[in-house]
Amino acid sequence: EATTEELEKKVSGIKEEMGARLFMPTHHYQKDEVAQFADVMGDSLQLARICKEHEAEYIIFNGVHFMAETADILTADHQKVYLPDLNAGCSMADMANIDQALICDRELTGIFGESVLPLTYVNSSAAIKSFVGERGGSCVTSGNAKKVIEWALAQGRRILFLPDQHLGRNTAFELGVPLDRMAVWNPVNRRLEFEGDRRDIQIILWKGFCSVHEKFWPIHIKNIRKRMPDVNVLVHPECTHEVVQMADYDGSTKYIIDMINNAAPGTSWAIGTEMNLVNRLKEENPHLHIESLNPIMCPCLTMNRIDLPHLAWCLDKIVAGDTQNLIKVDGETSRYAKESLERMLSIV
Ligand code: 13P
Ligand code: SF4
Repeated sequence: EATTEELEKKVSGIKEEMGARLFMPTHHYQKDEVAQFADVMGDSLQLARICKEHEAEYIIFNGVHFMAETADILTADHQKVYLPDLNAGCSMADMANIDQALICDRELTGIFGESVLPLTYVNSSAAIKSFVGERGGSCVTSGNAKKVIEWALAQGRRILFLPDQHLGRNTAFELGVPLDRMAVWNPVNRRLEFEGDRRDIQIILWKGFCSVHEKFWPIHIKNIRKRMPDVNVLVHPECTHEVVQMADYDGSTKYIIDMINNAAPGTSWAIGTEMNLVNRLKEENPHLHIESLNPIMCPCLTMNRIDLPHLAWCLDKIVAGDTQNLIKVDGETSRYAKESLERMLSIV
């Protein structure tokens, strides 16, 4: 079994050898042992933009499956995108499959007598992105959700927001859509959850959620405020509506990082987002008091599947010409999925 030192040496050696032919974008939720080798760190929006512009022949995406798919869709055909562990999926993205989306689309058209405009969080499969693109809709990330939902509301049509009900609800609410004009689509029993006159519905939220961000609860905010009355509570909009409403600030991964980087020395922060990012912010900012909003730290288990041994193994495979971990979205899916991504990038 190789030691950490040997694995690190292998990764840096192959990186050096391959030079500009290899590019390693890395999501902020990645472990330090992987993040140390990042060519660039970013959130989903930043990484999508960067990959679109990048020309490297080999892209190793240190993130989860849907991010690697997005990179493949946005890059040229000859560029190859690899995910160091094919099991690094996203439990939220898995909550919406294409068959469920087609059923939902058909049912909603029946209920309302007209089609809905679909939007999807980038945390979704390429097939869902393609479904959205084909219907004139757009992708969304946490960093641009407000602008994209604003764009969709201006079309004057009902919106279907997949797959994260919380990002959809929190953002639409912030834009002035009242909660009693939001319905929930349950893909399991194929039911529209709504009490009232369905004609009032403005946005339909797919009943998906992030298993990491749902672990921050109102009781955590109450407890930490009792213990530290001057604490600033800062959460990601994938948290529930109740938590976002109680928090002092909410925003995307980039927003959270910017808030901390600009915080006044000596201030206290309770952060509701993924554990690796919270730990990194804590280490990088010893002049602040930073803790996780949930005292039992919340890791994204699938992001964490990408570790140093997988990264070293994947690089070895690439050098050997092995395509086992290549992420390739088929041409037909890619075409409309690209439209939904390009639409998003043109809106913001
Ligand atoms: P962002 O990178 O868009 O903030 O998303 C957070 C997340 O959950 C990534 O999977
Ligand atoms: Fe998916 Fe949540 Fe993990 Fe992001 S943090 S990859 S949304 S499970």
